[in-house]
Amino acid sequence: MTQPRHYLQFSDLDKNAYRHLFQRSAVLKRRQSAGELYRPLVGKVMSMVFEKNSTRTRVSFEAGMAQLGGHAMFLDTKTSQMGRGEPVEDTARVLSRMSDIIMIRTFEQTLVERLAAHSRVPVINGLTNEYHPCQILADIFTFIEHRGPIEGKTVAWVGDGNNVCRTWLQAARVLGFKLKVATPVGYALTVLDGHEYGPDVFEAGHDPEAAVADADLVTTDVFTSMGFEGEFAARLKAFEGFQVNAALMAKARPDALFMHCLPAHRGEEVAAEVIDGPQSVVWDEAENRMHVQKALIEYLLLGSVNH
Ligand code: CP
Ligand code: NVA
Repeated sequence: MTQPRHYLQFSDLDKNAYRHLFQRSAVLKRRQSAGELYRPLVGKVMSMVFEKNSTRTRVSFEAGMAQLGGHAMFLDTKTSQMGRGEPVEDTARVLSRMSDIIMIRTFEQTLVERLAAHSRVPVINGLTNEYHPCQILADIFTFIEHRGPIEGKTVAWVGDGNNVCRTWLQAARVLGFKLKVATPVGYALTVLDGHEYGPDVFEAGHDPEAAVADADLVTTDVFTSMGFEGEFAARLKAFEGFQVNAALMAKARPDALFMHCLPAHRGEEVAAEVIDGPQSVVWDEAENRMHVQKALIEYLLLGSVNH
């Protein structure tokens, strides 16, 4: 049996594959908005496993599969046997005999890796505690739509050194841009993939103004990610001064974009004046989840399609 291609972290694909995916996302987006039917996946099924909540990830995968002519099935831990202790290896064996592709949102990255290791079909990471590759795929596509290539640009991350931030770092190395991160002390980004990230790719500190200086894109995320709810009060205190507001945006380049993977908490990590302001592209960013994931599904199942 040939090994299926998986998408478990951003570094699973190289620059050439991303070049293809971004081009293809634009094609599929244009086709969709023109009302053109493109259904290469008639009869194909995606299993979507959710161990954490979701709005965008669920809807974008489900809508995307439907648009490609296929079908997506929702499973969660409450109502599936995963919640009653069925091993993930067995779940992988069974799901991959009845579906053509699997998407999973869960806690530990190791669980996604175990699922992939026992699956006959491609597995996509729809967010773990460690990574959120589909999000950064959408974010970079959104940046390209608005500003052109991201190579050589500077992205500033203000807030928690979390799964989304860690995925930005992988993207910076793969695609060749710089990530500047400002986290509160105690919430710094930890590198988990064993790669060396030189100063041309990664600069980390605790000063939001220093991070956003010269940034082409300013981005943030909730102070408290899913799975860390017990730390909410402590985090609220620790993250004082880490809100992206108009004063902070004014320290970035004048044409800097603002992104947030959503859901957002106005008045906490971002001020309403920023997320609802002229530099914000968060709604394009959310919509683009669907377009890039359609390109990703097509790539994993059909290879580099160019028609
Ligand atoms: N950004 C994102 O993944 O959103 P959901 O949690 O709603 O899926
Ligand atoms: N960092 C957030 C992202 C949600 C889409 C979380 O993991 O909850």
